[in-house]
Amino acid sequence: MEAKETEIAEEEIDLAPVHAILDSFPSRDRRYLIPMLQKVQGVYRYLPDKAVQILMEALELTRAEIFGVISFYPGLLITEPGKYIIKLCYGTACFVKGANIIANKIDECYHMRPGDTDETKLFTLQTASCLGNCGAAPMAIIGDDTHGTIDPEKTLELLGSYKLEDEPEQQPEEISS
Ligand code: FES
Repeated sequence: MEAKETEIAEEEIDLAPVHAILDSFPSRDRRYLIPMLQKVQGVYRYLPDKAVQILMEALELTRAEIFGVISFYPGLLITEPGKYIIKLCYGTACFVKGANIIANKIDECYHMRPGDTDETKLFTLQTASCLGNCGAAPMAIIGDDTHGTIDPEKTLELLGSYKLEDEPEQQPEEISS
């Protein structure tokens, strides 16, 4: 069922941006593959299979070659991520200060390990190398926001606030009843 929904969603994808991205590079040389993938992901938030196929054919790559590259870079996604991507810093300072304990807490409450999306498709958890502010370890970026000196409880509170933000506003009748 899920695969079928994905197929339908992919059928509806406008692939014109992929061709525009290809045309924006000086040539269809393989050395442009990573920036091309990044640009495609910038358009769709992930790499739809049909978009990958277009790049594969244009750059004369095999499926194994292109997916070998995609799987090497954790930032490149082959499935649509949740609305908010959580980048939990796993750099040394953050790890020493308990980043893995935070990851375990997220798993306990949202059932997702790094690389997973929660069942409501609100969050995708990723790990990141040093986010450049070790003094505020442990660090995480959630969506566009950076959060420092987090701990498991604070992380759950933060995730709860993103959940609340995402809930549809209550109708006046609902508030008065
Ligand atoms: S190790 Fe996490 S910010 Fe540097």
